[in-house]
Amino acid sequence: MKNIMLSFDGSNGNLEWGQGIEVVILLMGLLLLLPGEVDGQLSVNFYQNTACSNLEAVIQTVMVAKFQQASTSPAAILRLFFHDCMVNGCDASVLIASTPGNVAERDAPINLSLAGDGFDAVTQAKTALEKICPGIVSCADILAIATRDLVRMVGGPAYPVLKGRRDSRISRAIDATEQLPTVNLTINQLNALFGSKGFSQHEMVTLSGGHTIGFVHCDQFLNRIYNFSSTSQTDPTMSATFAQQLRLSCSPNVSNSDPNVVVFLDQTTSNRFDNAYYMNTVQGEGVLTTDQELFTDLRTRSQVVEYIKSNSLFVSDYVNVIIKLGSLEVLTGTQGEIRRALDCSAVN
Ligand code: HEM
Ligand SMILES: *[C@@H]1O[C@H](CO)[C@@H](O)[C@H](O)[C@H]1NC(C)=O
Ligand SMILES: *[C@@H]1O[C@H](CO)[C@@H](O)[C@H](O)[C@H]1NC(C)=O
Ligand SMILES: *[C@@H]1O[C@H](CO)[C@@H](O)[C@H](O)[C@H]1NC(C)=O
Ligand SMILES: *[C@@H]1O[C@H](CO)[C@@H](O)[C@H](O)[C@H]1NC(C)=O
Repeated sequence: MKNIMLSFDGSNGNLEWGQGIEVVILLMGLLLLLPGEVDGQLSVNFYQNTACSNLEAVIQTVMVAKFQQASTSPAAILRLFFHDCMVNGCDASVLIASTPGNVAERDAPINLSLAGDGFDAVTQAKTALEKICPGIVSCADILAIATRDLVRMVGGPAYPVLKGRRDSRISRAIDATEQLPTVNLTINQLNALFGSKGFSQHEMVTLSGGHTIGFVHCDQFLNRIYNFSSTSQTDPTMSATFAQQLRLSCSPNVSNSDPNVVVFLDQTTSNRFDNAYYMNTVQGEGVLTTDQELFTDLRTRSQVVEYIKSNSLFVSDYVNVIIKLGSLEVLTGTQGEIRRALDCSAVN
């Protein structure tokens, strides 16, 4: 069994193309069924033989209550999960608070509006689990499971969450600034940034579908609706009617420090995890430059059109990329730690 497992470990020889696909499927099956700790690997049943074997049920109960309390939680936690995983891997480093000697990821300028409900959902689940089975479940795993659960509540897919992540002891604001995308990036720049994390352009387009839920502050697209250029008030890739609508919500002097001035990223079905985000871009109703570009740029347009034709294609691609996102540069085995702080904000 151990040898079979090792064939998945990069340092012991990757599976190569040309090996029987049925062997790959068999091995994947074994991997998913394997309980407990596998060095360097995540597994669905990681906590099976621990006192926390029912962690998914505990987290699910907490998330149902959290959603009732704040229906914006799914978007808040999805973005939090993305920010955690993109910056040095899914290690809960985004949850660590700054200390006198260190500005943490969550306090990087790009954090703006990492909504408190994402952090709070993790805190509530961690608190519940530490009561039942202390010191076993990592903050990073809680974030991954809670994200799946909350996004499901707005129509997102069910999928098995791989577990076994451990928590980092490091969190630096500068890393967030360098490794997270910003709204003015071109497709080439998005490809380079996501490519540096192992994602293809195709996967980048799928991941961007995360903007099917949630909010954005006006300053992130203000330049698209006022004084875009010397000849055009509005970004020409944005619909004039849509721009007028956004101007009603966002005055030119709007300050980003006002947390109340936000608009939906997907104004068609803002509370539904679906392919409407892609449909909007055809109408010139992508809110961010990076959203609209997916349709404007011919390299990504055909994929957008495919997703418009088939919501289920979008959703099945999304399941693959969110699992891949959740596996980025994880700490496993004896790396890192199981953070004890009930709000996951401090290293042990
Ligand atoms: C493609 C590059 C991306 C850019 C430039 C980007 C940028 C942004 C910006 C500027 C906001 C609004 C922040 C604010 O003003 O409050 C936002 C929100 C959000 N982003 Fe992204 N993002 C990107 C990719 C992603 C990905 C891959 C995901 C997840 C799969 C994601 C999930 C979200 C969610 C759910 C929100 C709403 C958060 C809330 O309502 O609290 N984003 N993003
Ligand atoms: C975000 O970062 C700024 C500093 O850039 C900080 O003042 C603010 O408190 C941070 N917000 C959150 C929610 O952590
Ligand atoms: C995007 O670029 C424009 C033009 O350079 C700039 O005015 C705007 O502030 C940028 N937006 C953000 C959110 O950085
Ligand atoms: C647009 O440009 C004009 C002329 O440069 C300037 O007076 C005005 O304040 C600008 N408006 C905004 C919203 O930036
Ligand atoms: C923004 O401009 C509006 C008029 O366009 C004005 O009523 C409001 O007081 C201004 N707000 C700030 C914060 O300057």
